[in-house]
Amino acid sequence: MFWSRALEKDTRGRTTRDGIRIYDPSDFAGMHKAGEVAARILDAMAPLVYPGQTTGAIDAEITRMVQEAGATSATIGYKGYQHASCISVNHVVCHGIPGGKVLKDGDILNIDVTVIVDGWFGDTSRMYVAGKLPRKAERLIQITHDALMLGIEQVKPGNTFGDIGHAIQAFVEGHRMSVVRDFCGHGLGRVFHAPPNVLHYGRPGTGAVLEEGMFFTIEPMVNLGRPETKTLADDWTAVTRDKSLSAQFEHSVGVTADGVEIFTLSPEGRFHPTYG
Ligand code: MF3
Ligand code: CO
Ligand code: CO
Repeated sequence: MFWSRALEKDTRGRTTRDGIRIYDPSDFAGMHKAGEVAARILDAMAPLVYPGQTTGAIDAEITRMVQEAGATSATIGYKGYQHASCISVNHVVCHGIPGGKVLKDGDILNIDVTVIVDGWFGDTSRMYVAGKLPRKAERLIQITHDALMLGIEQVKPGNTFGDIGHAIQAFVEGHRMSVVRDFCGHGLGRVFHAPPNVLHYGRPGTGAVLEEGMFFTIEPMVNLGRPETKTLADDWTAVTRDKSLSAQFEHSVGVTADGVEIFTLSPEGRFHPTYG
């Protein structure tokens, strides 16, 4: 999501002095359900990604599955956005708009779905490939996935958001790839985008301190080339300025007494790789 100073605030219940909502232990169950619905939809997209398929047809199936689950799409109607998913192909960093685009052999894509179930938000995205996965793309996707999981390993009470960002950045840059700065993760729960901005770069020990009951996403975008992005005339599609390939993975997580709970784990165990 966009870096923002004007995030929606969920003022019910307790918030920290950084404006981060602290949820109750009983709230984890609702997040778990919402996250599972989103993850199950992403599992079901794997066979629909192939050369000749359109991104619009994939989105239509997501719309259908959201309804079938008795859930609501969080993105339809969000700031004028009209689709149940964002589908970002090759050098598109995020917020790709599904439509008539036809996938070709070797294209890589991120599918990002956010659903609302009983008022709780589940937000997750993963990478897919149409046809045969090119070698360079495979490396990019692997590093991006591993960077997300290293970030998640930092999630426990007492660590800081800077610890998360640093773990991601150090790993990605160690592999001579770059972390996108223009977009970040976000708090969520009863709202879609809440404080804090969860940056995917940073210094250890800086930023807000993690506390039990915080819910947020981690969703690093990694480029093979330079980190700069630009937004196209449609006001949504963000692309790499240098046209290099970009990848992203996203989980919604909650801080527990001694670590982390991932709400958006794949029921089929295929978060990565979703293909193959
Ligand atoms: N799911 C995206 C995120 O990870 C947000 C998409 S907003 C939309 O934060 F309007 F572009 F769909
Ligand atoms: Co998100
Ligand atoms: Co998302």
